[in-house]
Amino acid sequence: MRLWLAYPLLVAMVLLAAAGHRTVAQGTAAMHKRGEALLTKNCASCHAVGTTGDSPRADAPTFRTLSKKYPIETLAESLAEGLFTGHPDMPEFVFEAPDVGAILAYLESIQER
Ligand code: HEC
Repeated sequence: MRLWLAYPLLVAMVLLAAAGHRTVAQGTAAMHKRGEALLTKNCASCHAVGTTGDSPRADAPTFRTLSKKYPIETLAESLAEGLFTGHPDMPEFVFEAPDVGAILAYLESIQER
């Protein structure tokens, strides 16, 4: 391969690789956003969804403290199969797998450690 051709090719490869990394980072941010949006829509009437503030309903735990009670992953099943039907005030939610992933990723990202 001649040099004048090899150089632009190399540049293109480096740019593509960089773009790939950016996509992964954006993917995580987008996933957190999606999880946050889902929780805001479905849960924020009772729970504090973000990193600050109290739950609108005093008896509903703030989401950023959930991991103090149990690991966040353990919510996966409840989210996918109908959430906490044992709590009479809380409506039943069933989320699709990608939404469960987004919700868990978001919850993980806001936990107080
Ligand atoms: C109508 C109000 C309401 C809505 C909407 C609501 N919750 Fe709750 N949730 C509660 C209350 C009240 C409790 C505390 C119940 C208890 O401890 O018996 C609770 C408890 C929880 C708990 C803790 C359960 C435990 O065993 O400690 C989790 C996790 C939870 N909610 C997740 C969610 C998610 C996720 C959503 C949205 C998809 C949601 N909730 C929507 C009222 C609500």
